[in-house]
Amino acid sequence: MRDKKHWKILLFLGAITIGFWSLIYTNKLVKVLQHEEAKKIKTYADALKLQYTIDDENSDALNFISELIKNNETIPMILSNDMGEIMGTVNIDTADASDLDYLKGRMERMKEQHEPLEIEYVKGRKQFIFYENSTILSLLKFYPLVQLAIITIFIFLSYLAFSASRRSEQNRVWVGLARETAHQLGTPISSMMAWIDYIKEADEHSRAEAIDELTKDVSRLELITERFSKIGSTPVLKIENLYDVMERSVDYIEKRVSKQVRFSIKSTHANIMAQLNISLFDWVVENLCKNAIDAMDGKGNIFIDIHQDSKHAFIDIKDTGKGISKNNIKTVFTPGFTTKKRGWGLGLSLAKRIIDNYHDGQIYVRDSELGKGTTFRIVLKK
Ligand SMILES: Nc1ncnc2c1ncn2[C@@H]1O[C@H](COP(=O)(O)OP(=O)(O)OP(=O)(O)O)[C@@H](O)[C@H]1O
Ligand SMILES: [Mg+2]
Repeated sequence: MRDKKHWKILLFLGAITIGFWSLIYTNKLVKVLQHEEAKKIKTYADALKLQYTIDDENSDALNFISELIKNNETIPMILSNDMGEIMGTVNIDTADASDLDYLKGRMERMKEQHEPLEIEYVKGRKQFIFYENSTILSLLKFYPLVQLAIITIFIFLSYLAFSASRRSEQNRVWVGLARETAHQLGTPISSMMAWIDYIKEADEHSRAEAIDELTKDVSRLELITERFSKIGSTPVLKIENLYDVMERSVDYIEKRVSKQVRFSIKSTHANIMAQLNISLFDWVVENLCKNAIDAMDGKGNIFIDIHQDSKHAFIDIKDTGKGISKNNIKTVFTPGFTTKKRGWGLGLSLAKRIIDNYHDGQIYVRDSELGKGTTFRIVLKK
């Protein structure tokens, strides 16, 4: 979740930087081009002026001037006299150039863009050059806007993609939690139904035995309800002896799994204590052990190692299962990630939530080797 938020901010900042940078850059380009074009027009005007002062004999100079004029292939221009009559056009479509009304309108628009250049070719007689930005320049002026629009669309789309993926993740968690609830309730309930059938036909002595078993199932149901109710609220943490907690938890699991799974618990010190909520913490241990047993196909060893430093308590749960590939080590905690046919990919994300959020601790894959086994580590505050 936090990762995604970072990504969003990063993407957003990136887009803004690109937008600004291109805005500044194109603005600079526009300025340079504008300057170049203004210079071109000025040269053109000078050339026109010269034309009037050179006599027809001096054909070299005239050739030079007409070359200069022909050189401009990009900037549209209209030449007019001081009566406002159009004398000629440059770089305007031939069809448009013969349409007088069109030219007048275009002249007005040109005037809005640039003051026309004045040529005083004889004292008191003037001509005007109206001109506008070349096509490239006009396009370039729009370019940052186009780019900003594209970037905005890009941000919008990536935002949609992000929230869609988050929503589908949430959906998966909901469905998974519902299934997990049903699954957890299923075992004690079917067992209770069997005991009730048994009681109906049993004698006094067997009834007492059945009631014992029923009581166990009811307390199991109680535990499950407690867990689910705690997921939503802030659980109370108590200082507990980790060895005792693990022993009780393993005891419960051991009775319910194949005899080919061997458990061993070791602690470096006699009384390593940590703050935890037993009913939630048991859930984590159960999920880790269930995964370990799945990874070993129901046959192998689970080593539990408890140790500590000055501030933290560590619990390593090591199995001799098939291991996790390097690529998956980071993803195993993602809700919905599973490599099992009937898995929901919930166990580890639930465990992470319980350890991170409710115990302010850490849980991670300490190491894993394909074909050899995996060690998960839980870090708790002392
Ligand atoms: N001890 C382990 N050894 C090897 N792979 C593991 C181990 N623990 C978890 N994994 C991998 O991580 C995946 C996710 O585990 P997680 O407990 O979240 O879901 P699951 O076990 O597939 O399904 P669920 O727990 O919801 O029934 C597993 O499918 C498995 O591929
Ligand atoms: Mg699991």
